[in-house]
Amino acid sequence: MVDGDGTNFRFSTKIQNTIMSQTVVLAYSGGLDTSVAVRWLTDRGWRVMAFMADVGQGEPRKEAVARAKVAGAVEVVVRDVREEFARDYIVPSLKANAVYEGKYLLATALSRPLIAKHLVDVAHRKGAGAVAHGCTGKGNDQVRFEVTARILDPTLKIIAPVREWEFRSREEECHYAARHGIRVEVGKKSPYSLDHNLWGLSVEAGPLEDPWREPPLDSYRWITPPHKAPAKGATVTIEFRRGVPVALNSRRLGLVPLVQQLNRLGAAHGVGRSDLIESRLVGIKSREVYEAPAAQVLSEAHAELERLVLDRELLHYKQGVALKYAELVYDGLWWTPLKTALDAFVATTQRRVSGWVRLKLLKGRCQVVGRRSPYGLYHKGLATYGKADQFDRQAAEGFIKLWGLPYEGLRKEQFKVRSGKFKATSNFELRT
Ligand code: ARG
Repeated sequence: MVDGDGTNFRFSTKIQNTIMSQTVVLAYSGGLDTSVAVRWLTDRGWRVMAFMADVGQGEPRKEAVARAKVAGAVEVVVRDVREEFARDYIVPSLKANAVYEGKYLLATALSRPLIAKHLVDVAHRKGAGAVAHGCTGKGNDQVRFEVTARILDPTLKIIAPVREWEFRSREEECHYAARHGIRVEVGKKSPYSLDHNLWGLSVEAGPLEDPWREPPLDSYRWITPPHKAPAKGATVTIEFRRGVPVALNSRRLGLVPLVQQLNRLGAAHGVGRSDLIESRLVGIKSREVYEAPAAQVLSEAHAELERLVLDRELLHYKQGVALKYAELVYDGLWWTPLKTALDAFVATTQRRVSGWVRLKLLKGRCQVVGRRSPYGLYHKGLATYGKADQFDRQAAEGFIKLWGLPYEGLRKEQFKVRSGKFKATSNFELRT
């Protein structure tokens, strides 16, 4: 019937195009918000494809897939991206020593550009005209998802149901879910909002909204509270090759199992928790608690190895780069030229970052106790106070003279010190 009939053929292509432009790929987590979003979008005429990325959150996948189908998803696409997450996101961030506001190792922030990249890719493969996410309208994640999607494909429509929909409370959402046969165990639901992946767990809301209140015990989702951790502690040795962790206690491991094992070990010893007031990109301060055992241990170890192998100028300059790098990650600017350029800089600094770091994990503390590298710049002959000292003390004298020379000159000029005479004064400040 269609064969040979040009009109009909064009007509079917048009229908096909319409269907595709009516298809949206939703970043789906399996929780209440994204499950409700599937239904909500379906109700508005969208064909919804749910996309789930396994970033190591460790939640039961089967139930989530089933829930998406019940909610109305025409298809559920699941991708295990843990390897890619570790190699292309965690490692570059570790090499850069990226830490946001001194405490946040960026687990959630790092996963977003990866998930968004796959979201766009699924949209392309399925010919969808839109992508969607389940982030609220006051967090950083909406920015990260949408900025990434816009950078990677500015022609895609972006929908943020949670920002748009009519539900005023969690109860209203649950009511809507129940009406549509979507089962989410609300009874068992904790008061916290959680986001979990291989690199860490972010905990917020509920009792944590009072910044003066100590995080209650039930906010420990993963890590053993330090006072319950074994008194004996544990020692762990990490080997790095060019900035990448490659072995744990002399056992060679791939990145994913290495991070997983270190997570288990660190968590058992109460290591890796931080509690901070954080400056969100969208202008508000929020209180967040993070649990990131492996991230904490690895970043302490990596930074320590750099202290040993990088010269002072490079080390200090790189510390400035680390701050900028962390900001870019936090701000959703992963896929940008500056981030690429900083990666190139960081890569050249990692050529010497090979060696071993030994750490002690004890009741919430993670302490470096030893470091060693074939590229180490520590020379005992120069550092020792013992007999073997080779340091040229005479050279120090001239060095100090020149080092202080500009300021000596300034003082003489400002206080009119002539011919060695100096009137004693208690005003020590030098004018600029
Ligand atoms: N504040 C963190 C960030 O912006 C984590 C966000 C997700 N946190 C959560 N508890 N759901 O990266």
